[in-house]
Amino acid sequence: MDIQQAKVAVQTALQPVLTDLGLTAEQILSLIEVPKNSQMGDFAFPTFQLAKQLHQAPVQIAQNLVEQLDASAFAKVEAQGPYINFFLQRFDVAQTTIQTILMQQQDYGSTTQGQRRTMVLDMSSPNIAKPMSMGHLRSTVIGNSLANILAKLGYQPVKINHLGDWGTQFGKLMVAYKKWGSEAEVKADPITNLQKYYVKFHQLDKEHPELDDEAREWFKKLENGDSEATHLWEWFRTESLKAFTKVYDELGINFDSYKGEAFYNDKMDAVVQELADKGLLETSQGAKIVDLGEQLPPAMIKKSDGATLYITRDLAAAIYRKQTYDFDKAFYVVGSEQSVHFAQLKAVLTKLGYTWANDIEHIRFGLITSGGKKLSTRAGRVILLEDVLHDSVELAQQQIALKNPNLKNKEQVAHDVGVGAVIFHDLKNNRTDNFDFQLEEVVRFEGETGPYVQYTHARAMSILRKANYQGQVAAFDAATLDDNAWNIVMNLAHFPEIIQQAARQKEPSLIAKYALKLAKSFNHYYAHTKILVEDDQLASRLNLVQAVAIVLTEALALLGVQAPDEM
Ligand code: ARG
Repeated sequence: MDIQQAKVAVQTALQPVLTDLGLTAEQILSLIEVPKNSQMGDFAFPTFQLAKQLHQAPVQIAQNLVEQLDASAFAKVEAQGPYINFFLQRFDVAQTTIQTILMQQQDYGSTTQGQRRTMVLDMSSPNIAKPMSMGHLRSTVIGNSLANILAKLGYQPVKINHLGDWGTQFGKLMVAYKKWGSEAEVKADPITNLQKYYVKFHQLDKEHPELDDEAREWFKKLENGDSEATHLWEWFRTESLKAFTKVYDELGINFDSYKGEAFYNDKMDAVVQELADKGLLETSQGAKIVDLGEQLPPAMIKKSDGATLYITRDLAAAIYRKQTYDFDKAFYVVGSEQSVHFAQLKAVLTKLGYTWANDIEHIRFGLITSGGKKLSTRAGRVILLEDVLHDSVELAQQQIALKNPNLKNKEQVAHDVGVGAVIFHDLKNNRTDNFDFQLEEVVRFEGETGPYVQYTHARAMSILRKANYQGQVAAFDAATLDDNAWNIVMNLAHFPEIIQQAARQKEPSLIAKYALKLAKSFNHYYAHTKILVEDDQLASRLNLVQAVAIVLTEALALLGVQAPDEM
């Protein structure tokens, strides 16, 4: 019996005693919970809802029902307060679960439900000539993990890096470069120096508004294809992309497309024309806008000087992507602060009559703060992703030097641990929560960290190496199943359902939290059980260890984190 069948058995036992209440099988299934504490059973049925319907006390209902239902499929069924707790026949479920994992290996939890339908993910999308910030890290790692999760369920993710390579900021940058910059400086360290010019521009433009006029001029030149402006732009873009690619290589993340905002330059006229043809375009103080009613501010499509905007390019991009990929869903993994923008984007597409606007979803996420303060490029309060990765790898090196100085592949492992720590730290937080970034918190081998999960996996692998484990097929012994081992089995059994939940909620943190929970349950077992003892349950215990190693590796892989065999 696998865990799904066990859940259905709970529903089947409840169904006959609940028929009078008119609950469907579906409804019963949706009410069944997994208790936090296994003392409370493996599944529990709360009676609060019934209590409302029946005007009876929940405790009373739980007791009545337990007396009536057929408990023969379970080890034990009992009423505890307002809950009916079901205890499974452990051996049966454990046997099936372990067997399935050892057979399917990294495919455990995979499905074909997506039927290769295309899901477009707009993710990372840093801005040219600016450093990639911790904010872009969030988009990159959340997007990448969602792509992994969707692929696991048989969807076809398309990862698009919508580079911020167009817009009025390039006018500012060109003015700044021409006034204060030098070719030699940019060549030596493009991002730092371009950023420096840009910050200087913003320090001065309050008192020198003529700078803004010049910047507008330069951006217009760029939009009109002026050769000097174009040349500068191309140069800034190439240098920036080189720097971004270094970071992506570090993270082990790649993209299916780097078509950024500039790609849509020759596709915007058509959109503006279409808006006009459909009677949606209004003129307001010289600018072209689409009115979006009471709920949303109007979308500005063209400024009074004719310049296009961020949303104009996003409109062209959405239409282009629908034509190119015929997506089922289009996700935009972008910070919460752009909620209004994406609401406007959807609203304008809806007004244009595109029903697929409903398939667009803004996957928002919270801010990363530092010492409680918002990070800001303009105020110069940035944490550079490159520095963070570098520092994190260095911390990992120090830890390894302390704990395992003779480790083979030390460099590679330190890289996997340092980078994995940063990714995990980001993904373990609920997507929409803000969180404070502190490097020391990230690379710890204990607590709720990536290295802790990686370390647990390495520990499992080390046990298997010592035992010279060759994959003892399916031997599993009921006597292995003490409470601690059973706790692991239940965690293993829940993995497929956790993946489904993560996909439904677009929430990689569920996978990260799950990995921590599984790791904890394994370490608890390890602390209480001698695994490597030559007795007739050795094979059985090793199979359990192997199943843990497989599932931890796969959970980390879904997050985009490596699982070294030794550390
Ligand atoms: N470049 C933008 C920024 O850094 C994010 C772009 C998000 N994607 C989009 N299609 N608008 O804020």
